[in-house]
Amino acid sequence: MQALQATRARTLPTEWWRSAVIYQIYPRSFADSNGDGIGDLGGVRAHLDHLEALGVDAVWFNPWYASPQADAGYDVADYRAIDPVFGTLAEAEELIREAHERGIRIIVDVVPNHCSDAHPWFVEALRTGPGSAARDLFCFRPGRGANGELPPNDWQSIFGGPAWTRTSNPDGSPGEWYLHLFAAEQPDLNWENPKVREEFEDVLRFWFDRGADGVRIDSAALLMKDPALTDFDPADPPFPHPYTDRDEVHAVYRSWRAIADSYPEPRALIGEVWLPDAERFAAYLRPDELHTAFNFAFLGCAWEPDALRRVIDETMAVHAPVDAPPTWVLSNHDVPRHVTRYGRADTSFNLEYRQLGAPTDQSLGLRRARAAILLTLALPGSAYLYQGEELGLDEVEDIPEVLRQDPMFHRTQGENLGRDGCRVPMPWSGQVPPFDFSPADASREPWLPQPRAWRDRTVEAQTGDPDSMLELYRRALACRRGEPTLGDGPFAWLPAPESVLAFSRGPQGRFVCVVNLSDRAIELPVAGAVLLSSGPLDGALLPPDTAAWVSTR
Ligand code: GLC
Ligand code: CA
Repeated sequence: MQALQATRARTLPTEWWRSAVIYQIYPRSFADSNGDGIGDLGGVRAHLDHLEALGVDAVWFNPWYASPQADAGYDVADYRAIDPVFGTLAEAEELIREAHERGIRIIVDVVPNHCSDAHPWFVEALRTGPGSAARDLFCFRPGRGANGELPPNDWQSIFGGPAWTRTSNPDGSPGEWYLHLFAAEQPDLNWENPKVREEFEDVLRFWFDRGADGVRIDSAALLMKDPALTDFDPADPPFPHPYTDRDEVHAVYRSWRAIADSYPEPRALIGEVWLPDAERFAAYLRPDELHTAFNFAFLGCAWEPDALRRVIDETMAVHAPVDAPPTWVLSNHDVPRHVTRYGRADTSFNLEYRQLGAPTDQSLGLRRARAAILLTLALPGSAYLYQGEELGLDEVEDIPEVLRQDPMFHRTQGENLGRDGCRVPMPWSGQVPPFDFSPADASREPWLPQPRAWRDRTVEAQTGDPDSMLELYRRALACRRGEPTLGDGPFAWLPAPESVLAFSRGPQGRFVCVVNLSDRAIELPVAGAVLLSSGPLDGALLPPDTAAWVSTR
């Protein structure tokens, strides 16, 4: 154990974020230690073995802060406290220490665009009324119309419905409106106000001082708003956009970078930046801004050879000039699980076109997901795994309406099924729900129901089964750890038959990844030893929707 830890410490250089495999924990759904049906920090601490056996370098936690949970914790009431449903600050500190002991780094989620309507700042803003200093921390405006009965502009919430909610004055009369790009319980902060900036700089230091190795920055491109707050046509937005990717936001991240760099072991900044324009995206990764950002172009890409090749090329072309390592992501807590996506007729994804309920071929999806993880882990840079993908979990599409929690579902009157289906609690062991997500004497059912079919997908059921998804992930991560050319570093496409992706890694190109996206079995385009394949080879042939790692040494 000691020796293993020493190896791990050695293999994690200071710029660990350039090559790390980062596991995303959605705390509500990872493991419930006290039987209330909701995952918690005790549950994470009890399952650190799973992360170590998987072989990940770091964990990113979705928000664990004090919150009314109107948007599953992305409505933060206190950025320095752990929500009692998850545990205590002392437990979080213990968890960070225990993870570090196992060579696993910790990334916390920072939510700067908005807070909760229960945050003391917002409570104070409502109490003090129009024109107060407390209101200037948010975006309050009088309404339009004769009596201010119309919202200040026509902006729509990203979750559906208007982006404004009217307040009552302290005397009870109808008052000003406030901006919320997400749910009404998530008032947008005013980043023109220096107090907002100081507060978040202090929040960063708070978590860095407690050992967090990095932060994931929520909705990172949305912070700054056009003070004119003018109407616009979302189908044809003006440039600069009134609230997305405004140039002023970069100054915020420059100041955050200075804080991250001030630590003896610099902390990493990871942006949630959804932008269609690749160059605008790369601007966030300039050397004095964020270290990395999620690659949503790859996440949304169809399982098609030309589209994948294009997105890989574009990703690398965009990152090279700013010398930032690319990231590779297949799933997260906001998108339908990729096992389900890859089994559909249209395997692409975008935020407007979630295709929930579209028919899917589960075994095709699983087969492609196996090939996709070998592709993902062989590409240059860091990779993100979303909890449950190592078990091959699928999107749960039949959650009864009364149990659905996502504000996206409720604010669109159910037109958009929302994101609950990828947030269903993890199955650990046993034959029936809750699959040891909660202890045997639990007082509540899991907060979302688990499919009975998951009895074949528990950690227990898959452990030791060489054909399981879990063992594939474990082998792939062990192989990646032992293969210094993986992670950040040289990459080159190799000649390959049509609909086949083949590339080499490392200066000598001795490590080769081949992905067969054609509909026939192919000969491997290089000679060498097969280190790992996502499914059995057919003699010497690589079957369709199968990937292989080959050593040409
Ligand atoms: C990000 C999060 C998402 C959340 C939203 C509002 O997109 O990933 O889950 O609902 O921000 O904070
Ligand atoms: Ca619990």
